Amino acid sequence: MTTDSVSFNAVNQSTGQLPGTFITLEGVDGSGKSTQAAALSVALKNAGFSVLLSREPGGTPVAEQIRDILLDREIESMAWSTEVLLYLASRAEHVSTLLRPALERGEVVVCDRFLDSTLAYQAFGREGGGVRVIEAMDAIRRANDLATGGLGPELTFLLDLDPSEGLNRAVIAGRSPDRLEGEGTVFLDRVRDGFLALAEAEPDRIHVIPAGGTVTDISEEIARRALSYLQRK
Ligand code: TMP
Repeated sequence: MTTDSVSFNAVNQSTGQLPGTFITLEGVDGSGKSTQAAALSVALKNAGFSVLLSREPGGTPVAEQIRDILLDREIESMAWSTEVLLYLASRAEHVSTLLRPALERGEVVVCDRFLDSTLAYQAFGREGGGVRVIEAMDAIRRANDLATGGLGPELTFLLDLDPSEGLNRAVIAGRSPDRLEGEGTVFLDRVRDGFLALAEAEPDRIHVIPAGGTVTDISEEIARRALSYLQRK
């Protein structure tokens, strides 16, 4: 990774004038973000909010089919741009058919992964597919705008964990690694550094939550911060 890869200007993503609130959870594989996304959705529902819980890649029938291609371990290699565009194609479908309508109805959307994952995995993890990381980030952001119409989260929780611990959790759970996890810890170390660089660039939006604690402690902390954000809004 080149040093300029962490000195980029963060592009402010936002839901603009939509009445709903878009919250994402991010982190390396095994960081517990899917569990925490589900827990946050329950906590917000209990607090009286109307919540849509979803995930990327996936979330709609077409996007789930794209997910199957992306995570298929039988596919040994894929061009970098194909991988990026498939993640973004899944996102385009997800945003236009599920997320944007929910935000227009005023719901809180809790999504397991979004653009930060594409930047962390495809720009930092894949080292820009051969171009400089900062240039890859620019290209991804531009294509992402086409896929989303500029829609992005207002609040993000980054569950930060040493990737080797995340992979251990997957082994203990008896789950076989998907195509990206199969890249191993050197790749995932770059992904983690990417996430942390993104959080450093946008500290107001991205809250870094150490993911080594108990599930309950972490979910209480995330719910507390999310409710405080929603009350201030
Ligand atoms: P998941 O295991 O959290 O469901 O995510 C599926 C995999 O896809 C995970 O290894 C991260 C990867 N991914 C990317 O590489 N780029 C992306 O844009 C997204 C959303 C996920």
